Amino acid sequence: MKRNILITGGAGFIGCHVVKLFVEKYPDYNIINLDCLTYAGNLENLRAIESSPNYIFEKVNLLDVSELEAVFAKHAVTDVIHLAAESHVDRSITDPLAFVKTNVIGTVNLLNVAKDYWGDLENHLFYHISTDEVYGSLEDGGFFTETTPYDPQSPYSASKASSDHFVRAYANTYKMKTVITNCSNNYGPNQFPEKLIPLCIHNIKNNKPLPVYGKGENIRDWLYVVDHARAIDLVFHEGRAGETYNIGGFNEWKNIDIVQLLCQKMDAKLGRASGTSEKLITYVKDRAGHDHRYAIDASKIQKELGWEPSLQFEEGIEKTIDWYLENEDWLNNVTSGNYQKYYEEHYGG
Ligand code: NAD
Ligand code: TYD
Repeated sequence: MKRNILITGGAGFIGCHVVKLFVEKYPDYNIINLDCLTYAGNLENLRAIESSPNYIFEKVNLLDVSELEAVFAKHAVTDVIHLAAESHVDRSITDPLAFVKTNVIGTVNLLNVAKDYWGDLENHLFYHISTDEVYGSLEDGGFFTETTPYDPQSPYSASKASSDHFVRAYANTYKMKTVITNCSNNYGPNQFPEKLIPLCIHNIKNNKPLPVYGKGENIRDWLYVVDHARAIDLVFHEGRAGETYNIGGFNEWKNIDIVQLLCQKMDAKLGRASGTSEKLITYVKDRAGHDHRYAIDASKIQKELGWEPSLQFEEGIEKTIDWYLENEDWLNNVTSGNYQKYYEEHYGG
């Protein structure tokens, strides 16, 4: 079936991998990437596919309803994969309202525009990308399943939980066809270097301190970003409408163990004596309300849709470090503001 799929947040970390996968794998679909290019959105992430005939970029903010309506009409949008969001917990602690605006109001704007444009909701899918953080914080045992009650603890996770509830409310009230996936922490190429793994890679390379919050004993469950994109492809095509699927690789790590692993691997790659980079580890004040542990039970998506992660963590971490070391310009651009120059040269400001 011919589809015109609106992917929001396609210039961000996960979004760019989803856009690349869909543009390359489905030449018959038109992929419209809608993104307002915050600090986290970067069109250099899409250089490999930017001149593909089935790819279109629209610089639009989710808060601008008339622009959203114009995009639906101009491209005859048939389906939505919604990734655009404010995504960093630390930023949500200093500026919660920005998260309410984009994640809650932006999502409701998109739901409204899609509902009104589609009219007949039978043949259209609204796919909402969410996080495992909506389930709250685990102690040392147990996993999040699709039926775990929501218990968000940070302004970020509260805003994502709210957007998930609105998506379900639209499915129930207006009979919109929706699907939601809640994924664990992603890592891999193109992640803005404010999140733990790219921040540490960047700082190790530059001999800067590696800030470890609290005692470094908090636990996250890590998935390679391309495996998340593969899961999104599968759920988009084969997931059951109205369902929720958890996505994760059964791959839990304490923060301090990840930071040490990065130090060891990078010492070897940079030709430094073993133990050199670990001296950069600096324990700092803990994050306010820091969730102790996240861990996803991904057996539903495995059993129902046959999804499995393709990469083991050690392999994914190697690929990630190599990508950052080989893409120094990208890192320098996103951390120095040079990216604006790239945008103006390619898109005329
Ligand atoms: P990101 O911060 O890297 O990218 C977000 C993108 O959204 C950026 O390109 C940004 O420009 C765009 N955007 C932000 N506000 C916008 C607005 N008002 N209008 C239009 N575009 C806007 O985020 P990410 O890490 O790629 O996460 C993508 C999605 O996946 C988010 O919904 C996030 O909650 C979810 N998620 C992320 C993770 C993770 O580990 N990163 C895990 C699970 C779920
Ligand atoms: P982060 O990458 O921000 O993702 P999230 O908060 O969404 O899980 O952080 C991952 C873990 O690493 C989290 O427990 C906080 C911790 N952390 C640090 O210890 N130091 C840092 O500089 C950052 C950014 C995170």
